[in-house]
Amino acid sequence: MQATGVLAQSNSARINYLLNCQGCHSADGKGSAGGAPDMTLYGKEFLQSAPGRRFFIQVPGSSNSSLSNLELADVLNFIASELIQYNEAIQFTETEVEQYRGTKISNVVETRNQLILELVR
Ligand code: HEC
Repeated sequence: MQATGVLAQSNSARINYLLNCQGCHSADGKGSAGGAPDMTLYGKEFLQSAPGRRFFIQVPGSSNSSLSNLELADVLNFIASELIQYNEAIQFTETEVEQYRGTKISNVVETRNQLILELVR
């Protein structure tokens, strides 16, 4: 059967995740000790807040990837629904990615820690 529409989109997002992100983040998004953090841990909190969503777009792994804005939006939606399993998350759009991707985070680890302090209570 030919995949179309939403299905095709989620399949290519899955493949793009596999090719561009999985090496550091692992298949389940849980990363590894001393490597990429477990995205499922605070994922819901990040996805629920505007600064958290910007962070997801601006982390070096996302922003510096070779993915187009649309492809990155789809991969982030794949991470939200399949790995973080937060299906109520607002969908990332090409426009949102385009808007925030170019702004570099100066200290990623510090920014992440600060966001977690603010978002998780
Ligand atoms: C070379 C390893 C590497 C690759 C490849 C990579 N990342 Fe990451 N990612 C990290 C690390 C390390 C962090 C923690 C922040 C930092 O130090 O950059 C991170 C953090 C993140 C976060 C924040 C998660 C959290 O809980 O704080 C998201 C979202 C993310 N990456 C998405 C992606 C996406 C999407 C891709 C593929 C397009 C990708 N990353 C590719 C290493 C990587």
